[in-house]
Amino acid sequence: MNPLNHVAIIMDGNGRWGLKYKNSRNEGHKAGLRTVEKIIRASIRNNIKFLTLFAFSTENWKRPKNEVSFLFSLLENFLKNKINDLHDKNIRLKIIGIKNFSKKINKLLSLSEKKTSKNTRLQINLALNYGSKSELVYAFKSILKNKDSITEKNLSKYLFTKNIPDPEILIRTGDKKRLSNFLLWQLAYTEIFFEKKLWPAFNEKDFNKIIKEYKFIKRNFGKI
Ligand code: IPE
Ligand code: IPE
Ligand code: MG
Repeated sequence: MNPLNHVAIIMDGNGRWGLKYKNSRNEGHKAGLRTVEKIIRASIRNNIKFLTLFAFSTENWKRPKNEVSFLFSLLENFLKNKINDLHDKNIRLKIIGIKNFSKKINKLLSLSEKKTSKNTRLQINLALNYGSKSELVYAFKSILKNKDSITEKNLSKYLFTKNIPDPEILIRTGDKKRLSNFLLWQLAYTEIFFEKKLWPAFNEKDFNKIIKEYKFIKRNFGKI
């Protein structure tokens, strides 16, 4: 059976779900947050150590202002209301991406990371203002600045995902088969699951089914 430490998820389909059932994209984002909570619990039950969630891409700034500000108000409320709960559950929160939000959000993110930094049960990597291409450019620039040599091992050390093992599983909900600038380096050998369901409709049963399927995949890594 394949070992499992790290699941990454492109949580796509909130807007379509919201429009379909509530006539509002933002209602879809709200419902998507409830799925996040379900999947955190399911990850703990599956003894997963790293859960990486794509919440906001470097390209998502191109959305209408009202949607962007709604997303950040959801994030703010979530952290304010749930960070103690996450901490009590021994969950660590780490942000991957460039933290150039409002002062208020930046501070809240840093405090949440700091508060939970010693926790060991599960690490949630929240990808916010994350883009894989900008991450790679930043990594190469830092290597050059430090006059370090460009090797695979070194490059990994300069990514936001430093010290985090590559995901064994990537799930993308929302019925689109693309990576949308997510973890291009880290997914080199990841098993990818494209899920038709929209993120708010995704549940623990769907998650467990994917994990079960993953466990029996013959992973070759170039060998036979
Ligand atoms: C993903 O859902 C969540 C974010 C990008 C914040 P979408 O908002 O992209 O939902 P669809 O793809 O438009 O349905
Ligand atoms: C990817 O979804 C980003 C997140 C889930 C945060 P998008 O909805 O932004 O992706 P595209 O634009 O359809 O590829
Ligand atoms: Mg989308």
